[in-house]
This record gives sequence, structure tokens and C-alpha cells, in this order.
Amino acid sequence: MSNGAYDDRGNKDASITNPKGTGTMTPAVGTGKEMQTRNAFLVGDSMTGGYGKSGPDILHDCTIAVDPGEIAVIVGPNGAGKSTAMKAVFGMLDLRQGSVRLDGEDITNLSPQDRVVKGMGFVPQTNNIFTSMTVEENLEMGAFIRKDDFSETIQQVYELFPILGDKRNQPAGELSGGQRQQVAVGRALMTQPKVLMLDEPTAGVSPIVMDELFDRIIEVSRTGIPILMVEQNARQALEIADKGYVLVQGRNAYSGTGKALLEDPEVRKSFLGG
Ligand SMILES: Nc1ncnc2c1ncn2[C@@H]1O[C@H](COP(=O)(O)OP(=O)(O)OP(=O)(O)O)[C@@H](O)[C@H]1O
Ligand SMILES: [Mg+2]
Repeated sequence: MSNGAYDDRGNKDASITNPKGTGTMTPAVGTGKEMQTRNAFLVGDSMTGGYGKSGPDILHDCTIAVDPGEIAVIVGPNGAGKSTAMKAVFGMLDLRQGSVRLDGEDITNLSPQDRVVKGMGFVPQTNNIFTSMTVEENLEMGAFIRKDDFSETIQQVYELFPILGDKRNQPAGELSGGQRQQVAVGRALMTQPKVLMLDEPTAGVSPIVMDELFDRIIEVSRTGIPILMVEQNARQALEIADKGYVLVQGRNAYSGTGKALLEDPEVRKSFLGG
């Protein structure tokens, strides 16, 4: 994917800082650059927290953010807290410190349902479709908060993922892994979200299907929807990332443009296989 197919992505931009922003993150190890996230469209800012009332902290002062037109990618080893960070941004665990802001509004205390109403679309890592329901029923379920006619959005999802239109009346559980992920992403798009969060959208799919899914994700991003995604395929994901975060043990270890992270010798050695 480095041979030009994605050359028009924004990761040629040497600076991910928002010059108008006022907030700064502590310099990211390895990049030495400050990241300014206070004015980001969606930001989980200095998040510290864990599961339940008394569980240990999993996230330690962790910050992730994304702006319109951007794809922000979170990578890191298994158990690093990537999914936990996504769940924290979506309101599925209580933060002990830090905040979540969407479009300038503090939503730290909102339920996940209310965050959907505010414009967040979230595709979790597991159990992200209703397997016994048809493809179309899954999409209809995705529109649960809408009171208007959402048939046009269903058509848009079918345009984005034509295979789903072909299989609209088939139980989603009968679909291939890559097709199921399309259902999950399509379901999240049904609310016409202002921001899309994807936890490992390419988990368990072949490299070809992964490339196809990334193409579709880029297509969604080009419509202006900011995308925050966790990816196991770190190298490929950073190639399409405007910015990236490497999380280690619940902390920001490295942050920068996708390009900068791909070129960082430490990141390469420790997380990208050299
Ligand atoms: N529901 C839960 N209750 C308690 N602890 C949890 C829960 N989910 C995850 N954890 C713990 O939180 C830590 C981080 O897990 P998390 O799933 O966020 O990692 P991850 O980076 O997404 O890993 P992976 O790459 O395997 O998806 C792990 O130690 C895990 O055991
Ligand atoms: Mg995970």
C-alpha cells in the first residue's frame, strides 16, 4: 500500500497540531512534539480509569483525538488498553480522571445511548452484529434512534458495500468475516454519525479483504466523517492514518502522523516488526 495507492491521504502533512488549539498534550515520547487536542472534534483527554468501581486503572492519562476529514489510528500490543480507551470514549466505563469532549461539548457523564444521539457511531471489537437477523434488519436496528425515514441511508450503505445489498435478506451470521464487518460498519453509519469509532474493523480477514475494508473506510472519511480506529494491522493502518497513537500499558507511548510513526526507528523496532 506504500506504492502510491494512498498517496493522497493526509499523512504527508508534517504537522498534526492544531495551530488554533489552546490545549497541549505532554510531548509524545519518541516524537518530541506536543500534540494539541483541546479543540479536537472528538477527544478522550487524559483518561484514567478501569472496569467497575474498584478494578485497577487500565488507562493512565491516556489521550486520543480525531478531527473531521481525519483517520486516527490506535495501535499497540494485545492488552494495551486500546479497546478500553475506545469504550471509555464511548461511555462504557467510568473515568476516574479526564474527560471526553465532542464538538466542544463535555460529554464525560453521558451514557453510551446519549452519545449516539450526540453523533457517535461505535463498532465494538466483538459481538458487533446480530447474527440471527438479516443484513437489512441489522441496518434497521442501527437506525434505532431515528424517527425519520432512513431508507435512503440504507441505500447509501448498499452503495458503499454492494455485497450487503445482494445479501440483504440473508441472516448476517451466514456472511464471511469481512462481510460481517461491513454489516457492523454499515449499522453504525445508520445513525448518520458525526464521528465513527471502529475497534479492529479488519480483525480476522485476509489481506485482500483488509485492503478493501480500508478503501471503504477511506471513502467514508472523505465524506468528512472523522474516524477513530483501533488496528491490529499496525503498519497498513498507519499508512492510511493522518495521525496515530501507540498505546502501551494504558499510556500514550508514541504519537504522531502515520508517516512519522512508520519512520520512527523505535516504533518500527518495537511495534512494526523492524
Ligand atoms: N470487561 C473487562 N473487565 C475487566 N478487565 C478488563 C475488561 N476488558 C478488558 N480488561 C482488561 O483491560 C486490559 C486491557 O484490555 P483491552 O481489551 O483494552 O486491550 P486491547 O489493547 O484492546 O487488546 P487486544 O489487542 O487484545 O484487543 C487487559 O488487562 C484486560 O484484561
Ligand atoms: Mg481490543
